[in-house]
Amino acid sequence: MTITSRGPRRTLSGVQSSGKLHLGNYFGALKQHIALQDEGLCFYFIADYHALTTIQDAGTLRENTRDVALDYLALGLDPDKAVFFRQSDVPEVTELAWILSTVTNMGLLDRAVSYKEKVEKGIDASVGLFTYPVLMAADILIYRSHMVPVGRDQVQHIEMTQDMAGKFNRAYGEVFPIPEYRLDKESKVPGIDGQKMSKSYGNTIDIFAEGKALKKAVMSIVTDSSTVADPKDPERCTVYALYSLFATPEEKAALAARYRAGGMGYGEAKQALLVKIDAFFGPARERRKELAKAPDTVEDILRRGAQRARAEAQQTMAVVRDSVGMGPRPVG
Ligand code: TRP
Repeated sequence: MTITSRGPRRTLSGVQSSGKLHLGNYFGALKQHIALQDEGLCFYFIADYHALTTIQDAGTLRENTRDVALDYLALGLDPDKAVFFRQSDVPEVTELAWILSTVTNMGLLDRAVSYKEKVEKGIDASVGLFTYPVLMAADILIYRSHMVPVGRDQVQHIEMTQDMAGKFNRAYGEVFPIPEYRLDKESKVPGIDGQKMSKSYGNTIDIFAEGKALKKAVMSIVTDSSTVADPKDPERCTVYALYSLFATPEEKAALAARYRAGGMGYGEAKQALLVKIDAFFGPARERRKELAKAPDTVEDILRRGAQRARAEAQQTMAVVRDSVGMGPRPVG
């Protein structure tokens, strides 16, 4: 029995909370997730099972889950369009992970770069951390996803998913669509020190920062030591790169011209960037504050999402269990 190409194209992605969201997260992932909800069927979930590989505190796990929910909803995820849920509200995914682990070579997991990096960083090398990519494959395959929008660091995991889906299909028939990944073109967002923006580099500008904290981050963007009078090269300036994410082509061209003409200091460019960030994220910040006051509404959204997701997962699992030979022998 196959379930490969039923219905519209399906997009899926998981979000593991890694603390406060920053501009790199937004332009690298969230923005495209939210845009995709208008094309085809999207599944987005908060990866709390995965989070257990690094968080062993119930309060923190709950808080992080809540934060991701608030962040996504405030930034425009529409629960009537996308299926938005908590990973652990669909426990069937762990069953599929088990079944997939039986078609996953140790060698494949041994090559996982992300695992090695995490262990180097000091995270405990648990079995769960090692088999993280198997659960991720189960996430993707249980919703019969075709497309997985992710950051560059997750590409290897999607390739592993393709491998597992292929092996499963060869053993048991064409059950799973082979998913593709999709990278966002704007995923290179520089941090305040000019390196890639990343929480682990401590160089972020947070989306929900405001007032003094936001100003402080923007004003500390590293620039070269040219004077106000000097002409400047916009292409080599972090302030300009960040401004470009928010500006129209005309606004970009205008700022670039002022850089090249000389007479404009970096302080002024930073001020212009600050105004852009405030205008862009201001409404989302307000929405987030409102939602934070309504935890029951948020919980209700996640539960409704989980119901839809779980129905899909159960359909897939019925086919999977049957394909591998579980349950009674089909009649006829
Ligand atoms: N590993 C992903 C991350 O750290 C989160 C994730 C879990 C995920 N399951 C997924 C992403 C399935 C895409 C598809 O960002």
